[in-house]
Amino acid sequence: MNISAIACFSNNFGLSMNNELPWLQDKIGDLEYVRVLTTMSKTQSNSSGSGVDTTKLKKNILIVGRKTLETLPLSMVNSNREFYLLSRNQNYTISPIVKDKVTAFTNPKDLYMSLLNRYYKSGDIDKIFVFGGAEVYKIFLENGWIHTFYITRIFKDYECDTFFPISLVENDFELVSSTEIDSKFRKFEIWNRREHPEYNYLQLLEKVYFTGEKRMTRNAETYSMFGANVEFDIEKYGFPLLTTKKMFTKGIIKELLWFIKGHTNANELIKDGVNIWTGNTTREFLDSISLSHYPEGCAGPIYGYQWRHFNAPYDSNMMIHKENGIDQLMNIIQEIKKSPTSRRLVMSGWNPTQMPEMCLPPCHVLYQFYVDNGKLCCQMYQRSADLFLGLPFNIASTTLLTYIIASMTNYDVGRVRICIGDAHIYSEHIPNILEQITRKPLDFPKLIVKNKRESLEDWLYEDFSIENYISHEALKSKMIA
Ligand SMILES: NC(=O)c1ccc[n+]([C@@H]2O[C@H](COP(=O)([O-])OP(=O)(O)OC[C@H]3O[C@@H](n4cnc5c(N)ncnc54)[C@H](OP(=O)(O)O)[C@@H]3O)[C@@H](O)[C@H]2O)c1
Repeated sequence: MNISAIACFSNNFGLSMNNELPWLQDKIGDLEYVRVLTTMSKTQSNSSGSGVDTTKLKKNILIVGRKTLETLPLSMVNSNREFYLLSRNQNYTISPIVKDKVTAFTNPKDLYMSLLNRYYKSGDIDKIFVFGGAEVYKIFLENGWIHTFYITRIFKDYECDTFFPISLVENDFELVSSTEIDSKFRKFEIWNRREHPEYNYLQLLEKVYFTGEKRMTRNAETYSMFGANVEFDIEKYGFPLLTTKKMFTKGIIKELLWFIKGHTNANELIKDGVNIWTGNTTREFLDSISLSHYPEGCAGPIYGYQWRHFNAPYDSNMMIHKENGIDQLMNIIQEIKKSPTSRRLVMSGWNPTQMPEMCLPPCHVLYQFYVDNGKLCCQMYQRSADLFLGLPFNIASTTLLTYIIASMTNYDVGRVRICIGDAHIYSEHIPNILEQITRKPLDFPKLIVKNKRESLEDWLYEDFSIENYISHEALKSKMIA
C-alpha cells in the first residue's frame, strides 16, 4: 500500500491563517491540481457471476485532522472521495451531511491498520492521500508512512499561523520533479521517500500477511507466498541489521563462526550462551527423528559441515568428518583470488544423500558469490523463510559471511540478495508483525572487521564490531521449530 500526501504552502512555509488559505485572496493556489489528483481513480470490477456489469469507480481516501476537516468546503466531501479523520475526541460529532463519507479514528496506528485491511481485503481503494493539516503531516512523516509528496509552493510570504514541517520532508525525501507553472506565482514539486532497503522487508511482511495463503503446515499455521526476494546494497546503506526491532548479534556471529569452521556440536554454542541449535539437538528431539544414536548436542552434517566437508562420511560420536569431503568454502576463496569473473562461485548446503543424518534440513541452501566492479556480492537461495524471526537473522548472517570472504580475498562488500521460495509468517507472530510494519526504519549500522584472518579456522567473535546501531524496541516472539 502506498500513501501520498498533498500540501500547498507559502514561501515562508505557511499553510494557513485563521483557517483560510491566504493566497486565495490573490487568486493563486492549487485547488484545481488537488481536485484532479484526488478525484481520478481506477475502476473496480465486481464479477457477481450474474452477468451484470457491476464495474464501479474505486475510492480515493483523504486523511485529515479534525481542524482541517472543519475548514473543508462541502463540495470536497460530497464527491468520489472518502475521508479518514483523526480526532482524539471519541465523541466528536461529524456533521450528518457528510457522515457517510467520513470515518473517524482516535489513534493514527488504528487508522493506518484500518487502511491496510481495507486496501488489501476489499480492494475498493485506489489512491490514499494525507491531506493535512500540519499535525497530521507530522504524524505520517515521523512514522515513515508517506511515499510521495505533492507540493505546491507559492512564491510569496504570507502571514500564517500554521506551518508546514518542511525539515521532515527534506530529511527523508528527494525531489524527483519540479514544474514551474506560472513562474511568478508557484511551482509544483514531487518528492519521493528516500529508499531504504528495510522498507522492502517491511513491505514483504505486509504483502505476505495481507495477501498470502493461510495454511496449516508441518509445525503451525502460516500465511505463505511463493517467491520473494530482498536485496541490500551494503556499500550504500551499511550493514543490514534490521532497525525496526532490536536485533541481537552475538548469536548471529557465533553461529556463523561455528559454521565456517565446519563444526556440528551444538554444545559448543550452548557453552557460549547461544541456544539457536539447542531445541533441535535435545535427546528428546533427536529420538523423535530417528537419531537416537546421536549424543545430545549432535546436529549431524548440517550447513557448515557441507560447506567445509561436503558429503564426507559423518562420525556422530565425535561429531566430526571421517574423511575430508569437499571444502566448498575454501575452494570459493581460492577461486575468487584466481578467477574473480568465475561463474562457478557456488556453495551448496543441500545434500540429499546426507539429509537423513541432519537434525534439520537446510533452509539457506545455496550461495553464489560474484565480484562486481571490485565489490564482492552474494546471492543466497533460501527454500523456506520465517520472515519475522528467521529472515532478519539470515540477512545479517549472509552479509557477515560475505564480509569474511571479502576480507580474505581483499575485496569490499557490494550487494547481498536473498531469494526465497516459501516466504511465510507464523500466525503466532502476527501481533508483532503488525506493530513492526508501522515502524520507520533508521539508518543501518556499520560492521567493522577489526582483524584480518588468513585462515577460516582463525576468525574470532572479537574480530567484529557493529557500530552506530540504533533500533526500535525489541519484539519478542517464540521461535517455532
Ligand atoms: N495549505 C494546505 O495545503 C493545507 C492543507 C491542509 C490543512 N491546511 C490548514 O491547516 C490548518 C489545520 O492544521 P492543524 O495542524 O492545525 O490541524 P490538523 O492537523 O488539521 O488537525 C489537528 C487535529 O487532529 C487531531 N489529532 C492530531 N494528532 C492526533 C493523534 N495523534 N491522535 C488522534 N487525533 C489527533 C486532533 O483533533 P482533536 O482536537 O479533535 O482531538 C487535532 O486537534 C487549517 O487551517 C487548514 O486549513 C492547509
